[in-house]
Amino acid sequence: MAEKWDCFYTLISGATGGVGRAFVWACAAEGCLFLTGRSEEKLAALKGEILAKYPDCRVLYCPCDLTDESSRRTMYAYIKEQGLTFSRLINVAGADIQKAFEKYTDEKIVFQCRVNLEAALSLTRFVLTCRAPSLEILTVGSISGVYPMPYFAVYSATKSALVSFFSSLRIEQKGKGVKVTVVEPGGIYTRPDICKDIEGQGLWGKLSAKKPEYIAKKSLKAVGKNKRVYRPGFWNKFIAVVPRVLPLGVRMRFIAHRWKKLEKDAF
Ligand SMILES: NC(=O)c1ccc[n+]([C@@H]2O[C@H](COP(=O)([O-])OP(=O)(O)OC[C@H]3O[C@@H](n4cnc5c(N)ncnc54)[C@H](OP(=O)(O)O)[C@@H]3O)[C@@H](O)[C@H]2O)c1
Repeated sequence: MAEKWDCFYTLISGATGGVGRAFVWACAAEGCLFLTGRSEEKLAALKGEILAKYPDCRVLYCPCDLTDESSRRTMYAYIKEQGLTFSRLINVAGADIQKAFEKYTDEKIVFQCRVNLEAALSLTRFVLTCRAPSLEILTVGSISGVYPMPYFAVYSATKSALVSFFSSLRIEQKGKGVKVTVVEPGGIYTRPDICKDIEGQGLWGKLSAKKPEYIAKKSLKAVGKNKRVYRPGFWNKFIAVVPRVLPLGVRMRFIAHRWKKLEKDAF
């Protein structure tokens, strides 16, 4: 029986959210999952769902507030204690606060930078210490990271920093059996408020948005091919590249015009 659990794990952060769950289901058939999110209740329920469908899947979880260094340390100690080895890390946890910067509090700035950026860097460094001979590191960024985005400025800056960081890391890890990909999706139909925002954006929103299952499936393929950046769907590839013929100031005025109408802080 012991050999049955002797497998390489996929660690998924933000596993209990809309995108995270899609990755969970896309990876569950492979066998060994390590899931994290803040809520123990949600993680336990998710484990139950997985085992009902895949009774042979090895599912471990650990509740962790990724913005909290000591909570991360506790999770890392638990993983070391269990002697787990990872062949894949999927950084999904993130917070999409959207409002004028002057309406932020210091706490919100720290929270968003930590969960969107610091958490992914910390998990990545940790997983590099307990990795299988081959490792895939897949990180969910956003199309918002492609250009600076007024009224979505902190989110956009953290997502763009992810691309910068992981682009460097893949060079450092070249030849070491590590594949590194950042995915830059447009809207994804997850929480009800996000689905409402996508609908509210009309044709533009619909062209850019995808279902979480699509994002998970295509992103896993992209990291398998070791793509530096993957933008799901034709429209997202188009808006990331073609408008670059316009001066940045023009693009940002257009973005500001669209985004200033929206305000969102679900966290
Ligand atoms: N939905 C979109 O339109 C869209 C588009 C582009 C990119 N993305 C990116 O996709 C990712 C997931 O988005 P989603 O739509 O699935 O959002 P979601 O449903 O709100 O899920 C967010 C996940 O992050 C976890 N999380 C949040 N704060 C955390 C913290 N402090 N510590 C640990 N875990 C934390 C949440 O778990 P708990 O609440 O249980 O802690 C949850 O599992 C994010 O990185 C987001 O930026 C989303």
